[in-house]
Amino acid sequence: MIGKESFADKVDFKTGELANCGSHNKVYLNDIKTLFKDQEEVQKRLDENPLIYETFYPDIDTNIMYVFYGVTKIHPGTIGREFFMTKGHLHIPEQITEMYLCLSGRGMLLEQKDNNIKKTVMEPGTITYVGESSFHRTYNIGKEPFIFIVACNADFEHDYSLLKDDGFLEIVTVDDL
Ligand code: PA5
Ligand code: NI
Repeated sequence: MIGKESFADKVDFKTGELANCGSHNKVYLNDIKTLFKDQEEVQKRLDENPLIYETFYPDIDTNIMYVFYGVTKIHPGTIGREFFMTKGHLHIPEQITEMYLCLSGRGMLLEQKDNNIKKTVMEPGTITYVGESSFHRTYNIGKEPFIFIVACNADFEHDYSLLKDDGFLEIVTVDDL
């Protein structure tokens, strides 16, 4: 478990892999099938069950006030017209803000706060800052893997409950380009 002592890590900009990786998670279409808008297209793609995104996290003590970081890699592709994406979540407590830094590929950060939608294109070098109470999701809008690093306070939980209701008011599709 890291957090108390200083250390160095290394991220591979092409693969998203962390040298000091404690957990590597893979999310397939079947895991998030209800989240894509085009459910007819989801049914057609379930046999293939494409890999949508992966996360890489070091083994950080998340219960105290340390800095938490990790890498997300979203593969290129679409389900119907909608680009491959992460689930999307809110932080609990909602005051926990977060920074994303794009390492490679091209993505879109979708945010929803008080029924207002914000879409921000992310390219290598783009830093996006997710403010308080912002429901956020990322999409790969390019042809290569979209890889970004995330950093925030470690003492929070991901709240996915909004996805059970109507989800986001907008999505990101090929029509956004
Ligand atoms: O903390 C974050 O915002 C990221 O590490 C996300 O959890 C990651 O990008 C995956 O997104 P989600 O948890 O919405 O599927
Ligand atoms: Ni977040």
